[in-house]
Amino acid sequence: MIYDFDKIIDRTGTECVKYDLRENVFGKADVIPMWVADMDFPTADFIREAIIERAKGDVYGYTFREDAYFESIVNWIQRHHQWETKKEWMSFTPGIVNAFNLAVMGLTKEGDEIIIQPPVYHPFFYAVNNHNRKLVENPLIDTEDGYVMDFDLLEQQAKTAKMLILSNPHNPVGRAWRKEELKRLGEICMKNNVLVFSDEIHCDLVMPGFKHVPFASLSEEFAQNSITAHAASKTFNLAGLATSTVIIPNDDLRNKYVNFVHSTEADMGNIFGKIATMTAMEKGDEWHAQLINYIKGNIDFAYDFIKREMPKIRIHKAEATYMIWLNFKDYGITDAELNHKMIHEAGLGLNAGNIFGKEGEFCMRVNLACPRSIVEKALNQMKSAF
Ligand SMILES: Cc1ncc(COP(=O)(O)O)c(C=O)c1O
Repeated sequence: MIYDFDKIIDRTGTECVKYDLRENVFGKADVIPMWVADMDFPTADFIREAIIERAKGDVYGYTFREDAYFESIVNWIQRHHQWETKKEWMSFTPGIVNAFNLAVMGLTKEGDEIIIQPPVYHPFFYAVNNHNRKLVENPLIDTEDGYVMDFDLLEQQAKTAKMLILSNPHNPVGRAWRKEELKRLGEICMKNNVLVFSDEIHCDLVMPGFKHVPFASLSEEFAQNSITAHAASKTFNLAGLATSTVIIPNDDLRNKYVNFVHSTEADMGNIFGKIATMTAMEKGDEWHAQLINYIKGNIDFAYDFIKREMPKIRIHKAEATYMIWLNFKDYGITDAELNHKMIHEAGLGLNAGNIFGKEGEFCMRVNLACPRSIVEKALNQMKSAF
């Protein structure tokens, strides 16, 4: 079956954050929305059908996740990333942001130092600051060849830190971290007893030619010193179903985390998230392959356009995620001017880079998970405005 990612779907009026909150967020309801990270593609038919089938049932009462549910995730991770996990290591979480907040609350103490690597997914900052932990920033370094980690600084910071929240692959800069990079990070963390929370929500959105390396798959020691978060929600566009998985191979750590989460009752979940996730994991290989092919086409299209038509923008080709990260520093305008121009002259609703940390100043994150015709229209509007 050939899936149609070119189809334009009108999402307005569905209480959809990306479209229906444009007026609130951008002060303009008609910007092309390429911000919040969900996709404008239709839900895979086999997932919709599984949900409808269950919805026909008479009762939507309390439901548990059976072994087959976790086995479907074990099998997906084995097939796609060659990491052998066990269903006993897994627990449910209603979203990964929820999971790293709960991990911070349940596994660290107030005042503990937690390292993040900006520019990075903004809820990482909030998870540390909102619970009175101490934020330690280990900024990525922007090189000619793309963003890299600052291991020398990390060596120093790890001496007193308790946890590191890793975006693997990295949102927003689109790096699919190599084995060697993760090994070096993992060794520094091991040596200093820094627990690694590896947020792998984008792991199934890695472009051809690159490979996702699950942090915990690199060694038994890393597995024992880490928490991995996985979800079908980005890959299959199921974010509204609030369903994801936390994987903790270390028994003591898992018990501590699971007991804490249970004490908050955050582990209840919902019937439809369970069904959608399991169906995606069991039947989604072909849809996923076609999706990656389409997103890769969008990334290539946008990259070539920018290099050709707007060469003052600095861009590294995304290795992973469906976002691209554009640096407008060479335009010589302020961040506020950049933001204003993007909304009011280009007519685009993008994520201002500075929400991902001060390193994101003069940058914009653009969500390319939409039909190519929209990407083309948006880039042409950007070109005219700039
Ligand atoms: C790195 C990262 N983690 C987590 C999330 C969201 O996770 P959830 O919706 O499962 O809370 C996102 C969404 O963009 C993300 O980029």
